[in-house]
Amino acid sequence: MVLSPARPRSVLAPDDPAGFLPPPAVERFDALALENASPTESVTTRDGRPLQLRAIRPADAELLQRCFQRLSPLEIRRRFMHAMGVLSPAMLHRLSHVDPARETALALIEGGPRPELHAVARTFVDTAAASAEFSLMVERDWARQGLGGMLMQRLIDDSLTRGLHELWGYVLVENVPMMRLCSQLGFKTRLAPQEPGTVVLSRRL
Ligand SMILES: CC(C)(COP(=O)(O)OP(=O)(O)OC[C@H]1O[C@@H](n2cnc3c(N)ncnc32)[C@H](O)[C@@H]1OP(=O)(O)O)[C@@H](O)C(=O)NCCC(=O)NCCS
Repeated sequence: MVLSPARPRSVLAPDDPAGFLPPPAVERFDALALENASPTESVTTRDGRPLQLRAIRPADAELLQRCFQRLSPLEIRRRFMHAMGVLSPAMLHRLSHVDPARETALALIEGGPRPELHAVARTFVDTAAASAEFSLMVERDWARQGLGGMLMQRLIDDSLTRGLHELWGYVLVENVPMMRLCSQLGFKTRLAPQEPGTVVLSRRL
C-alpha cells in the first residue's frame, strides 16, 4: 500500500537527449491521483482496536492539526527534536502535501463519523545518497500496541522497494522507547557529535 513510484530518473539523464522532466506539481499533488495510488488497509492493535493504514493526503491537514494538539510536550520534543507550541500553516501544508517521488508518509486513522489520526511514519529520500531519513510518531493512547514497530517495518520495506541502501534518523538520547524499537529492527546507534543530546539510528538495507 505504500506509495512506491518507479525509481526516480535523473532530470539530466545522459542517455536520454530529450532529458526527463518531472510531471508538474499540480499532477504530482493531485488529490484524486494520490487517493487512487494509496489504497487503505485495515490493521488492528494488540488490544483489538481497528485502524486504517494509508498514505497521507492533502485533505488530512485538519486531522494532522488535531493530532498535534493532543500531543504532550514530551511527544512533540521527541518527534520534532525541539519544543513546539503550534504547527504553523506552512508546516501543516508541508506535512500533508507529500511528493511521492521523494517522500513516503503513512498514517493510521481511526474511522467513524469523526475520523482521527493517531500515528504517522515518514521517510524523506536522498536519492544522491541512496538513503532516507525516517520520523515516527504514535500517540500515547495508542502506544505499546505494536503500531510503531509495524510502521517502521513498512518504512524499511518501502525504502527497499525504492532501491535505497540505508534508513536513518535522529533521535534524542533520552528516547529509550524509540531506541529499543529500532534496536529490535536491526538499527545501530551512534552519537551525533554535531547535534548534542542526539543519536543517529541507522540500518543498512
Ligand atoms: C517511540 C514510539 C514511536 C513507539 O511507538 P509504539 O507504537 O509504542 O511502539 P510498539 O508498540 O511497536 O513497540 C515496539 C517496541 O519498542 C519498545 N518500546 C516502545 N515503547 C516503549 C516504552 N515506553 N518503554 C520501553 N520500550 C518501549 C519495546 O521494545 C516495544 O516492544 P514490545 O512492545 O514487544 O515490548 C512512540 O512512543 C512515540 O511516538 N513517541 C514519541 C515520538 C518519538 O519518539 N518519535 C521517534 C523519533 S522520530
